[in-house]
Amino acid sequence: MTIPMLDLKREYQSIKNDIDRALAGVLNNAFFVLGENVAAFEQEFAAFIGTRFAVGVGSGMAALHLALRALEIGPAHEVITVANTAAATAMAIAATGAQPVFCDIDERTHTLDPEKLSQKITAKTRVILPVHLFGHPADMAPIVSAARSRGLFIVEDACQSHGAAYRGKKTGALGDIGCFSFYPSKNLGCYGDGGMVTTDDADLADRLRMLRNYGQRGRYEHLVMGYNSRLDELQAAVLRVKLKYLDAWNQKRRAWAGIYHELLHDLPIVLPVEQQDARHVYHLYVIRVTDREGLGRFLKTSGVMTNIHYPVPLYRQPAFAGLTTAPVQLPVTEQCTAQILSLPLFPWITETEIQRVAGLIKKWLSQDQK
Ligand SMILES: Cc1ncc(COP(=O)(O)O)c(C=O)c1O
Repeated sequence: MTIPMLDLKREYQSIKNDIDRALAGVLNNAFFVLGENVAAFEQEFAAFIGTRFAVGVGSGMAALHLALRALEIGPAHEVITVANTAAATAMAIAATGAQPVFCDIDERTHTLDPEKLSQKITAKTRVILPVHLFGHPADMAPIVSAARSRGLFIVEDACQSHGAAYRGKKTGALGDIGCFSFYPSKNLGCYGDGGMVTTDDADLADRLRMLRNYGQRGRYEHLVMGYNSRLDELQAAVLRVKLKYLDAWNQKRRAWAGIYHELLHDLPIVLPVEQQDARHVYHLYVIRVTDREGLGRFLKTSGVMTNIHYPVPLYRQPAFAGLTTAPVQLPVTEQCTAQILSLPLFPWITETEIQRVAGLIKKWLSQDQK
């Protein structure tokens, strides 16, 4: 028996009729870019997140890049984020010409540590960009108050946290702009690339709509330098079907995480936590273990797939070599990066599969007690 990290075939089989009907509807209508499905999905997603506006774009990276462009971020500016994230987070910052500044993280949640934030703020800082990593919200109250007291913007990277909440409010509605990815593996994913930007600010929404569509307001009326970065109708039709299931799927992820917790809590490994103010949606179930390579190898030979999100802090990636002014050393980021291991967890996994993963971890730990 092989246990994958994620099996999207199981997802498709569970909603096949709805998806096939939605796709056929778009094909029969033969209108593919910025049509009725995108407009409807934008409203439905805004209602789900709890913002006034949502603007569909081409990917999560585009969502972040366009969000920063809408806030007029450019080469004179610094944007504070974390180094344990998808490269897209910091590449979107770099694409504006601004400098990504990496802040250390809280080891319990792997998200931006508010206590380390103020030492990173300079006269050039314009935006704080926390990442709600693995489906757990960053500790937003102190981050928002640090930003507000200095007139800084907050852009949330909610690419891994569709449906997660902090003090009762959904991620993506906690700052000035929220950015989502609909990459297929996400809690809400399409069948290709897609993304969304959420905001309560009508002017920002207006700018975002222009930026995604060659900077135009009306046809051939180009007011700003823009891009071709639009969510398409086929993806929006798929996402409209899946959005109806998102709460139930997140609930399943939480239930599976609970079972992992029951089976693994008394072992010498660090399990994910849900902070008191937070609702975790377990995009990934990430444990920490000293000999992570050893456990990963053992699980693989037993047919259990794992992954590492992410194996190298971004400031040590060659692409970012010229971008930081001083050598960065983030001890908590380094320590977590060396120990993390993502276990299989997705809504359609079975209890038997989780029991097998947990049983193998126990077996490895008992063999491996050195
Ligand atoms: C935290 C985070 N930020 C940004 C992105 C970029 O999203 P996309 O792959 O849709 O460009 C992803 C997903 O890959 C992500 O997980």
